[in-house]
Amino acid sequence: MIRFLINNDFVELNEARADLTLLQFIREHRKKTGTKEGCAAGDCGACTVVLVEPTSPDNPKKLNYRTVNSCITLMSAVHGKQLLFVEHLSDGKHLHPVQQALVEHHGSQCGFCTPGFIMSMFALYHSNTQPNRDEVLHALSGNLCRCTGYRPIIDATLAVCKQTPHDQFSAREDETLAALMSLSNERPSGTANIHTPTTREALKALVKKYPQAQLVAGSTDLSLQFTQQLKEVQTLISVTHVDTLKQCTKNKHSLTIGAAVPLSDAAPLLLNAFPQAAELVTRFASLPIRNQATIGGNVANASPIGDMPPLLLALNATLHLDNGEKVRTLPISEFFTGYRKTVLANDEWISAIELPLKQPNQTLAAYKISKRFEDDISAVCAVFNVTLENGKVEAIRSGFGGVAAMPSTCTSLESVLKGKQFSSNECLNLGKQVLFDAFTPIDDVRASAAYRKTVLANLWHRFWLESQTANNIETRVVQHA
Ligand code: FES
Ligand code: FES
Repeated sequence: MIRFLINNDFVELNEARADLTLLQFIREHRKKTGTKEGCAAGDCGACTVVLVEPTSPDNPKKLNYRTVNSCITLMSAVHGKQLLFVEHLSDGKHLHPVQQALVEHHGSQCGFCTPGFIMSMFALYHSNTQPNRDEVLHALSGNLCRCTGYRPIIDATLAVCKQTPHDQFSAREDETLAALMSLSNERPSGTANIHTPTTREALKALVKKYPQAQLVAGSTDLSLQFTQQLKEVQTLISVTHVDTLKQCTKNKHSLTIGAAVPLSDAAPLLLNAFPQAAELVTRFASLPIRNQATIGGNVANASPIGDMPPLLLALNATLHLDNGEKVRTLPISEFFTGYRKTVLANDEWISAIELPLKQPNQTLAAYKISKRFEDDISAVCAVFNVTLENGKVEAIRSGFGGVAAMPSTCTSLESVLKGKQFSSNECLNLGKQVLFDAFTPIDDVRASAAYRKTVLANLWHRFWLESQTANNIETRVVQHA
């Protein structure tokens, strides 16, 4: 059974298709059609809804309001949470303050995108942060509007989020919290074909019982198989409730992130340890995607255009692979074997990703080239991690996306440049040539092969130039960080 709240009502789901999306549930099962379907791929935000859950005990805020793309969220994700969609915001007499603000600022024309924008504004309104313009852009990063233009929507959001949240939801906060706590005290068991284990032992038993079952975490990539390719899955095992997969630890040598930690929770830890990775971490899809997507999922699906694997390759991450009996560790460079293929055994899952901390003599930089600043897939992604000894190249770790059938590294960059003065023109030109020759990318809608090869070589040029100015890379700030 999957139990959750829809606004203030307890809902129990005893039966559902394993691949039922939250959007299908809202529109087809609950007959609420305010939430729209645009792309069904997590790209437009028309389907944005809010999931509310208790914050961690050390957080003074009681409830966390998070946007998700309901078109690619599976029902396993809503267990123990409160689901709010656009029909819930008005109290029946008055528009909600975020709706009123959008009216007053003329932020809607055809209105198709509007319910999605409203829900993103609503989640930000409840974050109680009095956001600046960049933070508003960040919160709206998953929403597209084809006709109004963004200025009035941004103005409306800035205006309404100056206020302390004061609405029917803040008035009921204690009751909602109590209801959610009672749900979270129940151990989810899922439905006949959606399984939501909470312990390693239960996950192991389910993997053994259903060897053909699909494991899923955030489902932001997997769901596209259902909504775009119309594939069906019979049995689903969600790992997002497994306690041991949601833990993060840091010691003086490494940062370890549980495989089922949503990227929006992992991001502050990553940015604290590796601020140079901001371009990848903060531009990974959009906020609603990062609220669902996990690093473990981004690695396990082995997409050649995932943004995390290049960073993890350049950082020399170690994967923890578990089968419920023993955990084996594997350098990520040995994990990918081909297009969406990995060495993960049938009865294994990724339990954690361990990242060695950056050393003072290492220079790290991450670059993402895409058509849109946010909510877009990389045409080319490159991460360089160069270790210098007395100005000479000692080691180079690298990671690339979009240039081969799987996330890749370029070992010849190190073998050709090792021992050379990093600041020399020789190092610049040899590095560009090595990278230009290293890969045979494909032409597709995102970029031509020639473009990808040229961009890759030019990113080395950019990295080299930025590294010449003291702290240039260290202080390169992505506005939305
Ligand atoms: Fe476009 Fe969901 S319908 S993001
Ligand atoms: Fe028409 Fe935004 S108001 S798409």
